Amino acid sequence: MVIGICTHLGCVPDFHPEVAPEDLGQEWVGGYFCPCHGSRYDLSGRVFKGVPASSDLKLSPYHYHTVTLVEIGLGYSDAM
Ligand code: FES
Repeated sequence: MVIGICTHLGCVPDFHPEVAPEDLGQEWVGGYFCPCHGSRYDLSGRVFKGVPASSDLKLSPYHYHTVTLVEIGLGYSDAM
């Protein structure tokens, strides 16, 4: 789960999971678009080259307790 804060200057990127929407163009394959200065990230939050942001969206902290139990958010406890 990514944290919705653009790594350029901190705006909130919009989630656009659709492919080739009219406003983002034929090359868009889904992801996050920052309306402030146009940074683009893929569905995993990885930044595209040639946009203002220079790094990927940050990931929320997570911890796998077991193969079927993952805790997402701040901090975790092994006591689960
Ligand atoms: S704050 Fe997102 S592109 Fe500038």
